[in-house]
Amino acid sequence: MTQNDNHITPSAVPRHVAVIMDGNGRWARGQGEERLFGHRHGVDAVREVVRTAAEAGIEYLTVYAFSTENWGRPTEEVDGIMTLIAGAILSELDTLTEAGIRMRFIGDLTSLPTALQESIRTAEAVVIPGDRLRMTLVVALNYSARWEIAEAMRRIGSRIQDGTLSPNDITQETISEHLTTRGMPDPELLIRTSGEQRLSNFLLWQLSYTELYFTETLWPEFGREGFLAALREYARRERRFGRL
Ligand code: IPE
Ligand code: IPE
Ligand code: MG
Repeated sequence: MTQNDNHITPSAVPRHVAVIMDGNGRWARGQGEERLFGHRHGVDAVREVVRTAAEAGIEYLTVYAFSTENWGRPTEEVDGIMTLIAGAILSELDTLTEAGIRMRFIGDLTSLPTALQESIRTAEAVVIPGDRLRMTLVVALNYSARWEIAEAMRRIGSRIQDGTLSPNDITQETISEHLTTRGMPDPELLIRTSGEQRLSNFLLWQLSYTELYFTETLWPEFGREGFLAALREYARRERRFGRL
């Protein structure tokens, strides 16, 4: 790789990148290891991608860590993932904070194990002053887009019921503001690793006009190079939004 390959034009850097981190299990199998081995290496890949994204000037990085559908996996794997994430949040917290990266969590957090909820509370309590804030790392945990949309409908419904909102005043912005990603720009780029080409219930509303990037690379091997390749591809895309 030449120096030039690494160069990203600042104007072509997305503000918000969403990532479906997929392929940990297949990567582990390829190494002759258990699936959890893959998830552990997956955490190393997250660390590298987070650092790269912050360096590239990305403001929001949203990573899909556990879907509502993932509860359907064997208990041992689910428990292993929960313990791994709870530990990683705490062990990375100081480094992230020093780098000006704050953590936010989206999804139905109330049904996560207590230890994980504690880690989340600790991470979200960290305050980074505005002038030091470099990036927001959004972790989607027990997340599903249809759950999120149903939740938004419930909130909008109760505002109509208590008279603070009229049905005629519901706009696209009203819906956006009731989603878990309120206040964030929609992702300009979605990355999915491992060769699967589907959304798996991720950010359905927010991805309406997002550029999609699929790669065969398995998540534990994606890292800095994989992420920079995705940014370069994004910089080459022409976004038209229905116009000419
Ligand atoms: C992604 O890797 C991580 C989670 C969904 C938690 P997978 O565990 O889905 O890995 P594959 O797709 O089985 O290889
Ligand atoms: C999507 O990956 C969810 C996460 C990456 C957390 P999956 O591996 O669960 O998705 P499917 O089952 O292949 O659609
Ligand atoms: Mg998978």
